[in-house]
Amino acid sequence: MFPIIPPGVELPAIPNGVPRLDYEAPEQGKNFWVVDDFLDKPMDVANRCFNATNWKKGHPYTKEKWPGMRTKKALKAPELAKLEDYVKSVTGASKLWLPETAPGITLDSNVAQLVGKTESGPLPHTDSLNLCRLAAVIYLSPTPEPAAGTSFYRLRYPNGAAGGNIVTPPHINLRDALNVQSLPPQAWYEELKVENRFNRLLLYKSNLVHSASGYFGQDKRDKRLTALFFWMADLPE
Ligand SMILES: [Fe+2]
Repeated sequence: MFPIIPPGVELPAIPNGVPRLDYEAPEQGKNFWVVDDFLDKPMDVANRCFNATNWKKGHPYTKEKWPGMRTKKALKAPELAKLEDYVKSVTGASKLWLPETAPGITLDSNVAQLVGKTESGPLPHTDSLNLCRLAAVIYLSPTPEPAAGTSFYRLRYPNGAAGGNIVTPPHINLRDALNVQSLPPQAWYEELKVENRFNRLLLYKSNLVHSASGYFGQDKRDKRLTALFFWMADLPE
């Protein structure tokens, strides 16, 4: 669906006068981290999520932008503490916190998200710098489609030039940084795909352009189940 950068081909230069993003090559250990077999009891967590009764619906059922449906408290406190200790240890952040989206209301994090094949597709984006610096996903479908993990993208100009992939202050998101409402799929090169694997953790800097690579399944237990996390963080420069 998304073009990839053709190997061994010299790409044209970015045209003059067009909006740009900075570029930071996706690099394990620098701006993303993958750990397999992360949770001690992943089936317990997956069953807890599948059996939840308090689901909230998103796209295409409501005006929410996030897809499928979500339920809170995917991980219990000790499981979340282990994750946050890991996040601090690899990123160098000494503090993780959730911003207030309105007085007394914090961003939903530690949510389970269940999305079927027909409910959404890849949508490259960055998470608002007002809301988070780090995001993480734990894949919890026991038999996932490997290709339906998470992808990282970089801007593709109409002449084929490859542009940047991060939003930096003072901008907070792509719309703000590029001064566009939305971009078509051909405006992106898919640069790197992290495959979906049961009990794999993917942590990444959320100002990198990213998206779920795809969704799968029709019946509840066959759909793409993930636990999602967002944090503000005092990351070292
Ligand atoms: Fe995101």
